[in-house]
Amino acid sequence: MRYQQHHAWSILLRLFHWSFVLSIVTLAVTGFYIHFPWTNTLLEGSSNFPVGTMRYIHFIAGFVFTGAILARIYLLFFGNRQERIWDFLPITPKNIGNLVHTIKFYLYLDGDHTPRLGHNVLAGMIYTVTFCLALLQLTAGFYLLYPENPTWQKWGLLLLGPIQQARQVHYLIMWYFIIFAAIHIYIVVWNDIKTREGLISSIFNGTKYTPSP
Ligand code: HEM
Ligand code: HEM
Repeated sequence: MRYQQHHAWSILLRLFHWSFVLSIVTLAVTGFYIHFPWTNTLLEGSSNFPVGTMRYIHFIAGFVFTGAILARIYLLFFGNRQERIWDFLPITPKNIGNLVHTIKFYLYLDGDHTPRLGHNVLAGMIYTVTFCLALLQLTAGFYLLYPENPTWQKWGLLLLGPIQQARQVHYLIMWYFIIFAAIHIYIVVWNDIKTREGLISSIFNGTKYTPSP
């Protein structure tokens, strides 16, 4: 079969994806350590300060994560056609059809795949939830980091309640990202094998393929 090549993802979207991935991995590893510092810091000597080091790395990664999500919010409105939010939400008859079709395809009830340059609508909905949780996570993070700052205090109290509760929510949202990552990697590999659109390579080089008529 012959395939046609299409440009799907801008450089900024790909930079967003990989800085988001790397920052989340760093944040989850250092976050686990902040939650449960399993090395016995008292016995390690005064020149070691592992929790402080982990917190420092966590905050640097937190700023990368924040930069990445701000770039993605910009692309939701000013990115290319596939990157804008209305391309992948079930708000048009075509997108609702794609949502139903994708669910059937994933459940092995429909073997045919409709080629699509952007995300399928099921993926798009989950990504939108992920972006919202990323905003909540960074609000919790900055609220924990700057509790005396009036802006973070206002938003933190409004969205998350007292600081200890915010810390608990911050910890729970980490689990959302870990579970999301595991399912996401499984699904992109499954799709890459089933649909032959060059899905995984597209998040590196921006290019996708559709069968030519
Ligand atoms: C996906 C993103 C993130 C994950 C998975 C994550 C994970 C965690 C975890 C598990 C903890 C420990 C909570 C506990 O003690 O139960 C923590 C603490 C913390 N995180 Fe994050 N975090 C993320 C993003 C951020 C961001 C964007 C910031 C903002 C700079 C931030 C700032 C903080 C602060 C200030 C603490 C408290 C440190 C302490 O109490 O010593 N986090 N994070
Ligand atoms: C080796 C690991 C990974 C690979 C190969 C990969 C690959 C991909 C691919 C091919 C897409 C486009 C899929 C589509 O059209 O629906 C995508 C999108 C996405 N991935 Fe990953 N991914 C990986 C890890 C992760 C991780 C760990 C996260 C976050 C926890 C993540 C978050 C996202 C998000 C949010 C999108 C939506 C992109 C957007 O529209 O902004 N990815 N990924």
